[in-house]
Amino acid sequence: MITRQWWKESVVYQIYPRSFMDSNGDGIGDLQGIIQKLNYLKDLGVDVLWICPIYDSPNTDNGYDIRNYRAILNEFGTMHDFDELLVQAHQKGIRIIMDLVVNHTSDEHEWFVKSRMKEKNKYRDYYIWRDGKQGGPPNNWGSVFSGSAWKYDESVGQYYLHLFAEKQPDLNWENKEVRKEIYDMLTFWLDKGIDGFRMDVINYISKDQRFPDGVTSASQKYASGDPYTCNGPRIHEYIREMNDKVLCNYNIVTVGETPDVSPQEAINYVGEDRNELNMLFQFEHVGLGMDENGKWNDNPIPFQEFKSIMEKWQVELDGKGWNSLFLSNHDQPRQVSRFGNDGKYREQSAKLLATLLHTMQGTPFIYQGEEIGMTNVKFDSIDQYKDIETLNIYREFVDRNPMDKEKIMRFIYAKGRDNARTPMQWSADKKAGFTSGTPWIQVNPNYMEINVEKSLSDPNSILNYYKALIKLRHEYPTVVYGRYVPLLQDSNSVFCYLRCLEEQTLFVILNFSENSVTVESPPEVLCVPCKRILSNLQDKQNEYILERINLSPYEADIYILL
Ligand code: NOJ
Repeated sequence: MITRQWWKESVVYQIYPRSFMDSNGDGIGDLQGIIQKLNYLKDLGVDVLWICPIYDSPNTDNGYDIRNYRAILNEFGTMHDFDELLVQAHQKGIRIIMDLVVNHTSDEHEWFVKSRMKEKNKYRDYYIWRDGKQGGPPNNWGSVFSGSAWKYDESVGQYYLHLFAEKQPDLNWENKEVRKEIYDMLTFWLDKGIDGFRMDVINYISKDQRFPDGVTSASQKYASGDPYTCNGPRIHEYIREMNDKVLCNYNIVTVGETPDVSPQEAINYVGEDRNELNMLFQFEHVGLGMDENGKWNDNPIPFQEFKSIMEKWQVELDGKGWNSLFLSNHDQPRQVSRFGNDGKYREQSAKLLATLLHTMQGTPFIYQGEEIGMTNVKFDSIDQYKDIETLNIYREFVDRNPMDKEKIMRFIYAKGRDNARTPMQWSADKKAGFTSGTPWIQVNPNYMEINVEKSLSDPNSILNYYKALIKLRHEYPTVVYGRYVPLLQDSNSVFCYLRCLEEQTLFVILNFSENSVTVESPPEVLCVPCKRILSNLQDKQNEYILERINLSPYEADIYILL
């Protein structure tokens, strides 16, 4: 039995603060900028904001490398600004969840500064130090951001583990004192009145203490440490402890970022009776198309595989645990560019993707700019890119083969994280209305065409369609709690399902192709009287569903059966 909870009925909006709104002209988005846009967010109708890290950080990985968990990064403002944001958001009925990054800290965090001191002290054991092997690192694990996952430190005379950048050493969760420090820090933020956490790579905090080598293919120098770091031996013990000691005392929501989980494993994290997390981000659908270069390719999304993954998660979690719904975030390309069509059918396909995300079971997450159909960007030169992952992979490709330059640029256009990080396009004014200064990363040149101001004034805009979808979720408990029933599973262009709760049934049909398509009505809806309650086509009126359903390119329709 699925219990009713406010966070299941919510729509979350993700803010990447650096790129959202700059209030003071330094080219970097900030907390006062978010405050300025609260009315916009209220009008959009979202219930919760997830704010990416705003803590003090040297910004090697844009805030995912925290130097001080209890301080706000100067560029973003002060703790006073944060308190003001929280009060003002709450006054408008908007909740705020913070990003929690506790798999690693920055190497400039005082714990690590002390940990690497020559003179051994209690902080040495706050991180993961090991002796090298045969003149090299302790094992062959690679870092997510290229190169070895180990870095030798002269003064300690050992290697420390960093699953991400060198400047992001992994914390040693085996150490009780580390866990205690983290729980105290959680309490600090929760006592301020925040409404929960999105937990960065939380299923990586427990490592197999044997640190064995991973398996490499012939062309690989480094192996993935995932079999030994992801969903590790003590992971559930740690999360349960965090819940028992802190989380269960507050009316909050927690969402775990958990790469590499199956639905079965997911239920262990978010099962209603598990007392661990409320929901999670799984990545199976956004991970589609991986090849020998991992995510670095421009392979198209295989529609049927995509559909069956989405369906699998719907069906397997139903009644057992709660999921989140997303197609993009600050690490992913723009969803309309990847899963839709950012050319001729940009508006239509952006609305179709939004329909999918708002009508499945789970809590929808809107990534900033998605509501106006922002697209990927193609900067001419690698020098215009800022993201550490992108810059490292570019170097890796080019070092391997200078002829690969063009190829890797193509892949960066398709997959680079900066696609999602160009400034929010507020208006057709200079710098898209994001800043009066020079933005930290260039604005997507299509801002004259794609911006909030224009979208607000067009009743048929993507933005107004999002508002209608959010309203629908708030009005129909069936959209939130209804059972998901897949239909037309064999279709290679149509995504179609029912949502059923008590006496009410909704029917959703989405044409994921740029062609007009006609399908036979599934028997469940054939000739059943119904009313279309939302569509991304304006001119169609239906009172019952006929034997055949004709769909225009990227058409999306939601019906209620009468
Ligand atoms: C996942 C975050 O979403 C990403 O932006 C970051 O680089 C890594 N975790 C490391 O913290």
